Amino acid sequence: MAEIRRILLIISGGIAAYKALEIIRRGRERGLAFPTILTTGGAQFVTPLSIAALSGEKVYQDLFSLTDESEMGHIRLSREAELVVVAPASADLLAKMAAGMADDLATTALLATDKPVLVAPAMNVMMWRHPATQANIQILRERGVGIIGPVAGDLACGEEGDGRLAEPTDILDAIEQSLPAPDLPLKGKRVVVTSGPTHEAIDPVRYIANRSSGRQGHAIATAFARLGATTILVSGPTNLPDPPGVKVLHVINARQMMGEVLKALPVDVAVCAAAVADWRPAEAQTEKIKKKGSEESRKLDLIANPDILATISRAGPKRPKLVIGFAAETEALEQNALAKLEKKGCDWILANDVSEAAGTFGGEFNKVQLFSHGLTEQWPKLSKIDLGMRLAKRVAATLKDPPAKRAKSA
Ligand code: CTP
Repeated sequence: MAEIRRILLIISGGIAAYKALEIIRRGRERGLAFPTILTTGGAQFVTPLSIAALSGEKVYQDLFSLTDESEMGHIRLSREAELVVVAPASADLLAKMAAGMADDLATTALLATDKPVLVAPAMNVMMWRHPATQANIQILRERGVGIIGPVAGDLACGEEGDGRLAEPTDILDAIEQSLPAPDLPLKGKRVVVTSGPTHEAIDPVRYIANRSSGRQGHAIATAFARLGATTILVSGPTNLPDPPGVKVLHVINARQMMGEVLKALPVDVAVCAAAVADWRPAEAQTEKIKKKGSEESRKLDLIANPDILATISRAGPKRPKLVIGFAAETEALEQNALAKLEKKGCDWILANDVSEAAGTFGGEFNKVQLFSHGLTEQWPKLSKIDLGMRLAKRVAATLKDPPAKRAKSA
């Protein structure tokens, strides 16, 4: 039987509080235990008795209860679990978290914890969309708090829109992804990952970009961090939150990305998952380019951007032990991937089909083939999160037991 993982569950007020019972019930089937804090608002919707009956754990409610303080102080309560999950998270609780308030047991535990925090908001659609709530969510995101949902649908208040608590199974998936991996095969290793697109300025308002969402690169960085690696993510502009436990460096263009990657060296592993723009305008205009009368066309002079993957693959003594690139192809996958392996001088290429039919860009899934010197592996279609974890585990196995005759590629 696998080890039981302990999650501190905080149930705040809202009609969705009853779904927390489902999270507990289904979570126990997945080997999760849920000591729970029930807020005063939450207690209007579910009873401590029903929670305790399902969880088999104590339910904590009162910050100043002497019994609880002697059995388990709020500091210990917030630290003994591996992860703190707030489900449902009300607008009020999110606001208190953002402001750093600590006026009850839930907010005190949230302020005192040193563990990753995941929140599952649920509220009326107007409350969710309110700039105050959105600003609070942004603050929490920037602090590394994981956010799952809300999702769109019918709301208890009779309105419709985004505000519904995410489905309990999705919350449990997010919990499992947020939990630190139990063994840390990459502890002591240093990894740099590039992710997202780059934006190459044409003038102050226009830029050249591409359709990369950054989801794959971010998932890879998350996976490396979960396996214990010190992970640096150099990310172009995306809409994604910073992954927990990862040092994220935000950049805009290819030259900045290159600069941050070079500063991150030496590393054991480099994964270039960014869709770096191959070219940039030869001259970025400092003023907005204006139309000139009846001008019908205009030429844009482009010059090549630095190739980050090729540069670190040939970084001499600073070359990482393992350099991994992606090949985004719409045709002749194998041929192009093998050519890219040689041209870039990297150790592995993960080749994926980015033709529109494959739905890779912005999608949730990815299907890759791994090409190395003299080795090809076909990986099944995986979620980008699972693919990240498979790659991190494959890297951990290779670093532990490197192939005897690795071809020199530099
Ligand atoms: N890459 C990079 N820096 C660049 C261009 C690409 O680090 N300036 C990396 C990408 O992160 C990816 C790999 O190189 O890991 C392959 O990128 P891709 O765009 O598929 O290849 P290109 O070299 O641009 O070749 P082509 O556009 O001809 O397919």
